[in-house]
Amino acid sequence: MEMEVRAGVVLAALSLSLFSYCCSAASLITPQNILNGTVGGEITFDISVDPVDLTASAGTWKFGSNVVVTWTNSNPVYTNDYKGRVEVTFATGTLKFNKLFATDSGEYTVTITTAPSTLNLNGRVELKVYDPVSVPTIQSNVTNPVEFNDTVTLTCTASGSDVSYRWFNGSSELSDTQRVHLSADNRNLTISGVLRSDDGPFYCYVYNHVSKNFSKPFNLDVKCDGNSLTTAGIVAIAVCSVLLVLAVTALVVFLLIRHRRSSTGSSKSSSPTTKPEDGLVYSTPTFLKEPGDRKSKQNADPNAQYANISKQPQVQSNTATEYAELRRK
Ligand SMILES: *[C@@H]1O[C@H](CO)[C@@H](O)[C@H](O)[C@H]1NC(C)=O
Ligand SMILES: *[C@@H]1O[C@H](CO)[C@@H](O)[C@H](O)[C@H]1NC(C)=O
Ligand SMILES: *[C@@H]1O[C@H](CO)[C@@H](O)[C@H](O)[C@H]1NC(C)=O
Ligand SMILES: *[C@@H]1O[C@H](CO)[C@@H](O)[C@H](O)[C@H]1NC(C)=O
Ligand SMILES: *[C@@H]1O[C@H](CO)[C@@H](O)[C@H](O)[C@H]1NC(C)=O
Ligand SMILES: *[C@@H]1O[C@H](CO)[C@@H](O)[C@H](O)[C@H]1NC(C)=O
Repeated sequence: MEMEVRAGVVLAALSLSLFSYCCSAASLITPQNILNGTVGGEITFDISVDPVDLTASAGTWKFGSNVVVTWTNSNPVYTNDYKGRVEVTFATGTLKFNKLFATDSGEYTVTITTAPSTLNLNGRVELKVYDPVSVPTIQSNVTNPVEFNDTVTLTCTASGSDVSYRWFNGSSELSDTQRVHLSADNRNLTISGVLRSDDGPFYCYVYNHVSKNFSKPFNLDVKCDGNSLTTAGIVAIAVCSVLLVLAVTALVVFLLIRHRRSSTGSSKSSSPTTKPEDGLVYSTPTFLKEPGDRKSKQNADPNAQYANISKQPQVQSNTATEYAELRRK
């Protein structure tokens, strides 16, 4: 009798230890990484019970100390703030958000009770909700950069949470070099002693864990510095001068050829060019009203003639005719 009782106790103890061995092996599998969601987007906290023959017959999700949902036997109770926004899957305890708010970022904890074996299991999930990045814009702190002289800072601006920045010159990514400096946060690109070859196009690329975007191309319209007498400047000026001389020569040659052609082609066409001279010829009679008188006076006393008709009146007379010409036109 006593022996039987003892055997029963041993058996019970044995079965108890077997039971606890089985149960310490059961666990809740939760995402180990931080989950990254987008404002307005969806996210699922995928959890499951191991071994799979156990189900989450009851449980509670909490955000901090606030209950999100609590359920028993397929009967969930959602807290007001989460009604219609979250959904729990009873078999596993998985929680799905249909529409994320930025304020949903933080730590979530879950407690479940399994069936058919009744066990209490705990887990935690960390969520980070990001604002997606907008299309970035580029701004320069120098409106009209001058070659060699100016240091230009380009600043990239985009909305979004935890935005990271990268810069491109055409298709090549920019990094710190002798002339190029990136700020610690990569938002500012500073180019010292800009060159005309730094025209770009420059692009700013922004990203966070949930989105990315490229800016429109940005061109630096670098003007050359007329005052700086560098080798490149001198060469540029020399080339420009030669081109100017060539252009003027070409124009003169062209005009000469045209003139020669027109004068050989028709003698009448050349008459307009002699018109001003005609005017001068006409001016003589205006000035000396009595040519006959003049001649006689000249013959009689040349000195007296010079005294009367000094150079000054002649000039005045010519000027007068010229005015007359202008008026006629
Ligand atoms: C979410 O972002 C973190 C960095 O904040 C990263 O370590 C993690 O792997 C990301 N999670 C997923 C699921 O991509
Ligand atoms: C860039 O941003 C705009 C506006 O915020 C968005 O509509 C677009 O989808 C984004 N592009 C990418 C590649 O994420
Ligand atoms: C170039 O910079 C110097 C000073 O650094 C300044 O005196 C000069 O006016 C600048 N030249 C031009 C064309 O901006
Ligand atoms: C632009 O920024 C650079 C670097 O900060 C500075 O050296 C330069 O003087 C600035 N130019 C103007 C016109 O503000
Ligand atoms: C970026 O550049 C802007 C404009 O030049 C300047 O105001 C700002 O301080 C710079 N920021 C950093 C981190 O260099
Ligand atoms: C940008 O690219 C052009 C063409 O490859 C190059 O000449 C120029 O030096 C580059 N500028 C910068 C600031 O990297």
